[in-house]
Formats: sequence, structure tokens, C-alpha cells
Amino acid sequence: MTHELETFFQPKIIAVVGASKDTRKIGHEALKNILISDYECEIFPINPKDKEILGLKCYKKVTDVPEKIDLVLISVPAVIVAQILRDCAQKKVKNVIIISSGFSEVGNHDLEAELVSIIKKSNMRVLGPNVMGYKNASIGLDASFAYGNPRKGNVALISQSGALGIGMIYLANNEFMGVSKIIGVGNKIDIDDDDLIDYFAQDTETKVVGLYIEAVKDGRAFMNSIKNCNKPVLVVKAGRSKAGARATASHTGSMAGSDKIYTAAIKQAGGIRCRDLVELFDMAKALAGQPPAQGNNIGIVTNGGGIGIMLTDACEEAGLNVPKLSPKTYKKIDKIIPDLVRPNNPVDLSADAGFFRYELATSALLEDPNIDGVIVASVHGGYARPEEFIGAILKMIRERKLHKEYKKPIIATWVGGREYEDLVLDLKAAGVPIYPSAWRTARSMLALYLEGKRIKKEKQKKKGNQYYFMDK
Ligand code: ACO
Repeated sequence: MTHELETFFQPKIIAVVGASKDTRKIGHEALKNILISDYECEIFPINPKDKEILGLKCYKKVTDVPEKIDLVLISVPAVIVAQILRDCAQKKVKNVIIISSGFSEVGNHDLEAELVSIIKKSNMRVLGPNVMGYKNASIGLDASFAYGNPRKGNVALISQSGALGIGMIYLANNEFMGVSKIIGVGNKIDIDDDDLIDYFAQDTETKVVGLYIEAVKDGRAFMNSIKNCNKPVLVVKAGRSKAGARATASHTGSMAGSDKIYTAAIKQAGGIRCRDLVELFDMAKALAGQPPAQGNNIGIVTNGGGIGIMLTDACEEAGLNVPKLSPKTYKKIDKIIPDLVRPNNPVDLSADAGFFRYELATSALLEDPNIDGVIVASVHGGYARPEEFIGAILKMIRERKLHKEYKKPIIATWVGGREYEDLVLDLKAAGVPIYPSAWRTARSMLALYLEGKRIKKEKQKKKGNQYYFMDK
């Protein structure tokens, strides 16, 4: 069954109200973005003054457009938005995006209430107001006024803040993190986070869902959506402090609520609360590119004792185990490492470790049934060879089909300077997350472990249901 937001994300006929010839206006940018999208659709600019904008025939009102309209973007001042929305309802438009600001976020609650009452009497689904729109990288459609597009990938991003949402596009590109859709939800008078999580749960282009929220309107619906989502859901909830909650009220007109309750409820629903966007991106990259960990026993391979200890501390602090090596793995590693170091977990390959030591030690840990995931670290300790460290991981991925063979995640850490930076990009592009911090690495491995746990729970639930139906 197709989800009701399918036409919202894949509209065939789009109108832009407030489309303008003036290149400084948001209505111009929104129209242009749709027009230059690598996506086939019909586009109608709406402006009472013009006959044509950007080479497209212009209509005075949405009700004048001869076709049925799947999606309308509104970019006119707040005071006239209600009238436009009424026109959309009359035209039986399916979906609307209200870009315009000037509603509850600035105290204009009556204006916003009027929009809500129009929506309630119609069959329209409405995003906003006070939003950037969305970018659907899965199909190449840009239904926003913002400049720039994300790389196509499988992380769906939802942002209550428009500016932050736009920033997230650039951050994702910088991190080689592919995005399926990115959407701003603003004041959430109709389409809410729960609707979008439900949509992304069934979206075949999406593997991970990430949200930046300031408040939720319907806590129960939000938690149920996370609970029912068959994919990992990562949440950054802002407005943790008193002053932060005050800032939230003036940004999107929402109440931040009790922070402790949010933390507990997100965890109970099976989501992961992230401290900030960097952590959300760290975890999203790991979850999008790696298989989940089936348990919390982690093996660490390093060429530097110090980073090995910091990783061990960080893993233990994050709730993961760094167990002793099994006798079989001990023997394998003993053959690889120089005499001046002893086999242990973390496995210290010594500072001059090259390609083969990294490859053989990492394989030995992956082959160990007592290890659920591996962290590979490299420190630029003078005579270390960063390209061999990166090369060993890439070879295991490309030639030995690492994930298929072992079904275990592998993530990496580095400590170094410029010499590493380009090499690190190669790993990122291959879907191996690599972090410049022990703590960030451990937290990302934790996300992979929690995802493994969530999947197991989901399978048990399904099994339970089967028995239930068999009894019946
Ligand atoms: N139907 C269609 N078009 C109309 C109508 C109507 N009934 N009435 C007026 N228009 C036209 C105007 O004539 C104008 O076109 P023109 O340039 O050809 O004259 C166009 O609609 C836009 O109207 P303006 O009055 O010029 O409004 P402007 O473009 O300056 O501002 C806007 C409108 C952008 C919606 C503004 O009110 C606003 O809310 N800005 C903030 C938007 C925003 O930031 N949203 C949050 C995004 S998230 C983030 O923070 C990134």
C-alpha cells in the first residue's frame, strides 16, 4: 500500500504561489530550484502580476490552473497565507508547503490557528509554516528555496530548524554522508515528525532516520512512530537547559518540555538520543554504511598504545566490553606482532605497523566469535604508514567482501595531521566511518550495538506474533 505522503514527496504537478521574477525573493528561488531539478514534473508559477516567470506560464490564482495540483509551495507574506490556503482547499490540492514565517514563532497565534482550522476542514496535508521545504535526493527533486543539494544516499533527515536543515546538507556532503530526503518541519501545524518517521519507515531509499527537534506536539504519536519504525531513529532534542527552552519558544513557538522525560521516552521507544549534530552524523554514517553489531564485545587494533587505551576507556564508558583475546585469537595475533609487544585487546601492532599487520590482525578479530565489532586505529607516530592502514581496510572491504563474510561492523579512528586527511576521505567514501576521537568512535560503535539489539527485539516480537496467530 502506498503511503499517503507519497505524492507529497513525488509530486507530478507543482505550483509556487508568490513565484517572482525578482531574483532576491524566496519565491523566485523556490521556483528555480524545482525548475532546475533533475526530475520530471509540470510547474505552475502563481503571481497576480505576471504572465510568465522563468519561461513558465504564470496564473493569478491556484484555482485558475487547469490541472489537478499535487503540491503547492506558498511564499507570500503571512497575512495572505490563509486566503491562499483556502484557494488550495477549494482546488482540492493534495499537499502544501508554507514557507512563510510570521506565525506562532513571533506570537501570531491567531494567524496560525486560522490555518489549522482551514486544514481541518480539508483533505490537504500541510508542511510548515516557517519551513525551507524539502529536498528529495532519491529522485532529484528540490522543493525548497535553499541553495545546494545533498549527495544521494540512505539517511533521511528531519529538521525543525530550517537554517540548521540547510547546514546539515553541507555537513553531510562534507562527511560523504548520502541523504535520501531532507525536510524542514518548522511550526508543524499538520505534517509532524511522527508522520515523517512513518513515511521513512516504509521508504525503500531510507535506511536511517535522523531528527533535530525542539519540541514534539503529540508525544505519544512521536514515541509510537519511533517504536514502530523498522529502522534506526537518531534524535537530537534541543532546549535542554532553561535558557535553551526560552530560545526554543522564540524560534519555532514551541515548548521544550522536560528534558529527562524526553531522554527516557526516546530510549524506551528504541530511538537513540544524540548529544548534538556531530554525534547524529557520526552514528548515522556508521548505521548507513555498516552492519549492526550482534553483541557488545569489541576488538581494537591499533599502532599506538595510548589511543588503544583511550578507545578501551571510551568503549567501557559507553557500555561496550573490550574482552580479553580468546586463546585461538591470541595465537594468531602472536604470530603477526613484533616481539616487543604482547597480544592483548586492544591489539597493539606497534608504531611501525604496515598493511599486512593491520589486515591480519583485523581479520583475526573479525574471525573471533567472541568479537562483535572491530575498531581499527592509526596514529601518525613518526614512522607509521597511514596509506597502508587505510589500504588494508579498503582491501578487506573490496576483495574479501568483509561485511558478507563476517557480518560484523568495522569502524576506524585516526590521530594525525594533513597527511591523513585525503586518505581518510577514501575510507569515508567507502562507507567506513572514521573519527578523530576515541569517544566519538565508541559512541558510534554503541549505536551499531543498539541497532543489533533493536533488530533482535523486533524479530522476537514478530516471532511472538506468529505464535499468537497460530494459537488463534
Ligand atoms: N498570490 C500570488 N502571489 C502573490 C500574491 C497572491 N495572492 N500576493 C502577492 N504576491 C506576490 C508578490 O507580488 C510578490 O511577487 P513580485 O516580486 O512579483 O511582486 C511575491 O508574491 C512575494 O510577495 P512579497 O510581498 O514580495 O513577499 P517577499 O517575497 O518579500 O516575502 C516571504 C515573502 C518570503 C514568504 C516572507 O514573508 C517570509 O516569510 N520570509 C521568511 C521565510 C523563511 O525564512 N521561512 C523559514 C524557512 S526556514 C529557514 O530559516 C531557512
